[in-house]
Amino acid sequence: MNRSFVKQVLAAESPCDSVLVAGWVRTRRDSKSFSFLELNDGSCLANVQVVADAGIPGYESIARMTTGASVMAEGRLVPSPGRQKWEIQATRLQLLGASPESYPLQKKGHSPEFLRSVAHLRPRTNLFGAIFRTRSRMAAAVHDFFRARGFVWVHTPIITASDCEGAGEMFRVTTLDPLAQNASYERDFFGKPANLTVSGQLEGETFACALGNIYTFGPTFRAENSNTSRHAAEFWMIEPEMAFCDLAGDMEVAEAFVRHLVQTMLDDDSGDFEFFCKFVDKGLRARLESVVNTPFVRCSYTEAVDIMQRSGRKFEYAPHWGMDMQSEHERFLTEQHFGGPVIVYDYPKEIKPFYMRLNEDGKTVTAMDVLVPGIGELIGGSQREERLEQLEANIARQGMKAENYAWYCDLRRFGTVPHAGFGLGFERLMMFVTGVSNIRDVLPYPRTPRNCEF
Ligand code: 4AD
Ligand code: MG
Repeated sequence: MNRSFVKQVLAAESPCDSVLVAGWVRTRRDSKSFSFLELNDGSCLANVQVVADAGIPGYESIARMTTGASVMAEGRLVPSPGRQKWEIQATRLQLLGASPESYPLQKKGHSPEFLRSVAHLRPRTNLFGAIFRTRSRMAAAVHDFFRARGFVWVHTPIITASDCEGAGEMFRVTTLDPLAQNASYERDFFGKPANLTVSGQLEGETFACALGNIYTFGPTFRAENSNTSRHAAEFWMIEPEMAFCDLAGDMEVAEAFVRHLVQTMLDDDSGDFEFFCKFVDKGLRARLESVVNTPFVRCSYTEAVDIMQRSGRKFEYAPHWGMDMQSEHERFLTEQHFGGPVIVYDYPKEIKPFYMRLNEDGKTVTAMDVLVPGIGELIGGSQREERLEQLEANIARQGMKAENYAWYCDLRRFGTVPHAGFGLGFERLMMFVTGVSNIRDVLPYPRTPRNCEF
């Protein structure tokens, strides 16, 4: 007999004479002649209650079926007098693995900081089980969205020789000993500098300029030394790129994408979304509902700076034209001023990467950021510079090595087309749809400055 998932068992339509489940003990209560076991197998938030009469095979090990122990239970599925519809009247138990008192998750209500220190066990808690089931569902929703629109998923390289964002925040990839005296790129694995990708965009563009609409979805690495609740050194990014598309089209796809992902969360009936609404963020449902029901505001960077200057609000960093937006500015715009998602576009060229298209005004580029309440920047994107001369001028202006980007310039040399795309930070999305406030808690094993455990 195969084991059933607790999720299937609890959703049964009718009683059943023979079921087999297996999971980890959450709690056990004993009375004189029988015991109750709450088993969780991770298939859903709920536990299944197992009632075991003294004397059934396996009952001799009941004292060792403590919190954290793994147990298999076979029996009849019967209506439960308790809160749940069903419980299992066991006919046989088997202790698979005991869990001594040193098990760190004995009690409920551990702090997130403590749980990060046991990241290998935290998926067994209600909160982290719900987070990582949701993460998997949201990833599927990403693919659903693009597949339904005919986008091709492209696997861009993780090791690369380019710096897409030009910010120099790269992890080096080398086989050389950093302490060796005679180290040189000549002797290194690739014979030249290489790094972990900060974005699959440039390689993604080459495929968009061949296949039309593509997207990437994979890990991304940034050695930003910012220890915030919204930055990780390793995170996942989704980067669609669309040929024959301008900035307005880019914004439309970004808005539809965010709506689709939020709707997916609202449609979740597994119990996980319910759990986040109850125990993580009481305002979550209302916030997500407003996102799917109201159009995203479009606001130029120049207007946004103007709004902030006229707001009379004290910012730590006084807003002025030409500044890079800080999180306090983004949050003011989306949370206070507009009270919903807002797309800020046409940023000063000085604060943006080389690949963005220069506007007629000669001062701004066709950049756009999607800002959402509680998070700030969820998406960054742009229409790309498709004019060869302008692109080469940007590369020179930013002091980049032209020969490293010759292949990228070829797209403009041979059959150039207007094209646009964006990047959505998958963990920022996870924070947004779950209400979890620290990026470290939506990543299985978060990597941040001075932290690379596990
Ligand atoms: O705005 P960014 O830097 O844009 C790009 O990388 C472009 N190449 C995207 C494109 O046009 N194809 O990053 C995109 C998004 C941000 O809006 C943010 O959500 C997320 O990636 N992000 C991070 N998430 C977690 N930790 C970090 N350190 C992040 N840096 C960016
Ligand atoms: Mg950005």
